Amino acid sequence: INTRFIQKASYTTKSLLPNKTIKTLLKEDTQQVSVRGWVRSVRKQKQVSFATVNDGSTLKGIQAILNEKDAQLLTTGACVELQGSLIESPGKEQTKELQVSGIKVLGECDSTYPLQKKRHTNEFLRSIGHLRMRGNTGSAVLRVRNAASEGIRDFFREQEFILTNTPILTSHDCEGGGEVFKITPVDSKEPTEFFKKPVYLTVSGQLHAEIMASAMSRVYTFGPTFRAEESLTSRHLAEFWMLEAEMAFIDDMAPLLDVTEGSVQQTTRYVMDQCSEDLAFFNQWVDKSLLERLQKSVDKPFVRMTYTEAIDVLQKVQDKEKNKFQYPTTWGSSLQSEHERYLASEYCQQPVFVTDYPSELKPFYMRANEDGKTVGCFDLLLPGIGELVGGSMREERYSILEQKMKDAKMNMEDYQWYLDLRKYGSAPHGGYGIGFERLLLWLTGLENVREVIPMPRWVGSCKY
Ligand code: 4AD
Repeated sequence: INTRFIQKASYTTKSLLPNKTIKTLLKEDTQQVSVRGWVRSVRKQKQVSFATVNDGSTLKGIQAILNEKDAQLLTTGACVELQGSLIESPGKEQTKELQVSGIKVLGECDSTYPLQKKRHTNEFLRSIGHLRMRGNTGSAVLRVRNAASEGIRDFFREQEFILTNTPILTSHDCEGGGEVFKITPVDSKEPTEFFKKPVYLTVSGQLHAEIMASAMSRVYTFGPTFRAEESLTSRHLAEFWMLEAEMAFIDDMAPLLDVTEGSVQQTTRYVMDQCSEDLAFFNQWVDKSLLERLQKSVDKPFVRMTYTEAIDVLQKVQDKEKNKFQYPTTWGSSLQSEHERYLASEYCQQPVFVTDYPSELKPFYMRANEDGKTVGCFDLLLPGIGELVGGSMREERYSILEQKMKDAKMNMEDYQWYLDLRKYGSAPHGGYGIGFERLLLWLTGLENVREVIPMPRWVGSCKY
């Protein structure tokens, strides 16, 4: 194929829309402007009135100065277009403000509008999920969410990974946890009528990512993931977004941990750079140690310890403080969230990788270590959050994998393709999955994953 004659295509970054965002207007030198957005608040004073209008592109929006007559037209929540001139602001809060010369109300707002200029609780805001992005927290979350997904994509592009898409409908339960939602057409008599076999919403794109990594070497996928978890915790959703990376040609865990650490740190840096105003807002109103914590996490490497070392640490504390933990800290038992919290928040005070868990605690696909007892895997634990990432080296040896699958009583016919990947040019490989909403808790300081996804779904709740 001769590519010499293919012309280099250029693409435009010029805005194609007729109106400019407030973010752009505030950066430019234009004086006569037209601003469209929603009224956040109106303060009517004797001689002059003020209104704040926001289109979601910035935290603060723009302050408009109007006469009393014009101010009568504006109500909180209304969708408006304001014409006027941008002038230097005498106030400390903003650099520019809008001296209004004309107003058009595009959409009036009923007096029952529930968002007022005061602090609302997160529970209340969640109950008005169709309006909560009009408030500071809701809109800041969406900007940080956007920046985090941009940052993460940038990282993988730089590391030469390609973005692939894994299916949402699947006949597998990758994690073997049985927390799958079954799919059936509404009017089918048989649950298996449509696909002729049981089909579920994906719990992880990993097995499919492995197919693509066995041809493309470095891939990642970023999409919604579903788990029928009954857990009513601040860390669990029934639908969450997961970033899953899979890479061939790594011989041990060290480069896997390096890539994981790099992706989390680089995304954090990107968000700190792009959303400084939003992070300052979260730092002021949600978590006073947010900025310091994020800075520390990008300045220092994450701690690395094995599961065996972690158990040792936990047992020593348990010996000293008898009632420290509710659950046992014996080798072979799962780390409970109280243990994870202790390790990350108290012992390390920094993100920590815990590696090489006992094989019995982990799914079939993880690579068996030489000791015959543990697998090459890791969890990344964050202070105040707990598990953010789960990952492992994948078992690439045919006979060992086949035995593990038999031990796990899996249907070998269904997974023959997975074994085939080990028959046809098997490559040493590994990968991991980042829970995107948990990453957003880390980046915002918010406490509940329901606050950082636009329309949260959890057991007992699927509004909108
Ligand atoms: O540890 P998990 O179950 O790992 C996997 O699914 C692997 N197959 C990923 C891979 O290697 N490609 O899930 C990965 C992460 C967790 O660490 C957690 O952050 C998040 O996904 N997660 C959830 N987030 C919100 N709600 C839930 N119900 C979650 N379950 C897992």
